[in-house]
Amino acid sequence: MEKAVLSYNGKQYELPVFNGTENEKAVDITNLRKDSGLITLDVGYQNTGSCQSAITFIDGEKGILRYRGIPIEVLAEKSTFVETAYLLIYGHLPNLSERRLFSQRLTENSMIHEDMLRFFDGFPPTGHPMAVLSTMVNALSVYYPGYFTDNFESDTFDLMAVRLISKIRTIAAYSYKHSIGEPFVYPRHDLMYCANFLNMMFNSPVKPYNVEIDMDRALNTLLILHADHEQNCSTSTVRLVGSSMANLYSSICAGICALWGPLHGGANQRVIEMLETIREDGFTIKQCISMAKDKESRFKLFGFGHRIYKNFDPRATILKKMCHEFVAKYNIHEPLIDIAMDLENAALADQFFIDKKLYPNVDFYSGLLYRMLGIPTNMFTVMFAIGRLPGWIAQWKEMHDSRPLKIGRPRQLYIGDNIRDFVPIEQR
Ligand code: CMC
Repeated sequence: MEKAVLSYNGKQYELPVFNGTENEKAVDITNLRKDSGLITLDVGYQNTGSCQSAITFIDGEKGILRYRGIPIEVLAEKSTFVETAYLLIYGHLPNLSERRLFSQRLTENSMIHEDMLRFFDGFPPTGHPMAVLSTMVNALSVYYPGYFTDNFESDTFDLMAVRLISKIRTIAAYSYKHSIGEPFVYPRHDLMYCANFLNMMFNSPVKPYNVEIDMDRALNTLLILHADHEQNCSTSTVRLVGSSMANLYSSICAGICALWGPLHGGANQRVIEMLETIREDGFTIKQCISMAKDKESRFKLFGFGHRIYKNFDPRATILKKMCHEFVAKYNIHEPLIDIAMDLENAALADQFFIDKKLYPNVDFYSGLLYRMLGIPTNMFTVMFAIGRLPGWIAQWKEMHDSRPLKIGRPRQLYIGDNIRDFVPIEQR
């Protein structure tokens, strides 16, 4: 095994170096504190590997993203969301009978307990759908108590996984129906995953809705692109919460909350709001670029930049192409697309963005596509959560499959006061 040597205070410490299958290298510092008294400091975990994982590979410099070894471009073109979900969770593409069984179980688990429907009455119709989603997902642990299991070959885990994947879309669609005051549309056994969701969202007794094949395909692609992204903020949250042996539903609930933030999945909502502000307030592209560069300004170029991608985000490339295909095919007049294109071109030509390697990320174009599918802006991050769910489940399972299970517990460098006297209140 290769070793790295750390020299400190006149002593040398040998640290094992691990190799990944794509020749990435990691220094193992597990025993560093025990041996040398040192911990590592890496605010924001910018250079810290928290686990070994065989699920998703990203090369941020080359713009590569693969699930279980299969390039994202291939999955986006040839797979469905359900098949990709199976691939992520179980590590291989399902054969015909595995896929049939998985789909059948998704259908059987698509309804939510009728008593849970009353929960929606407790939420104001204006409540953010991400708050509703996280609450309802955590509440699943009350209605479907299949708590922590350490036998992941068991039916219990399979059932929890399909339950979550199927019910999350019903919960999401019901939260939309509740927000617009329309009756819930129940899931149908004869529709595939995405078509079923679109039907629950947009069908109504007074305005029947037929799921168009292009819409169904576009949604499949969007959800596939969201399905996993290795150890990002929400996935690390799911792992961290799950590492305490919290149940799957609660671990996923925590992931949904982490995803909501505008620096993470919440960026897709912010992109559209930003483009709308630019249009409504009449900002020029030049003004936007200079505001985005000015740290004092409150303007942020959402949908730009990524911790890992330093060349391009392959998901954004696929979505940009899809956006243009949609506009051309359906003759859509969407002024926000023109603003987005102008903004992207101006940023990509600007030295600030070139130097900092800032490129459009998945959220720059996903919101525009969701908008074309008729999804309301405040539900964009919910769509991201539906897509990311199989990845969260796969990562949670992988963590529990690996032995020994270690509770996640980082250290810190304390910079507060040294020991102080307690001064009674009358003497302060
Ligand atoms: N507009 C202007 N400047 C930016 C941007 C941006 N969108 N993103 C990063 N920078 C600057 C940043 O100010 C910093 O400058 P300096 O080195 O002078 O301090 C430099 O680029 C590095 O940025 P950072 O914020 O330190 O990088 P990070 O890796 O900590 O953060 C990020 C990554 C995605 C949070 C950040 O790029 C950002 O805030 N982007 C906008 C929000 C967004 O689109 N988020 C969605 C990410 S993709 C979906 C997902 O997987 O979550």
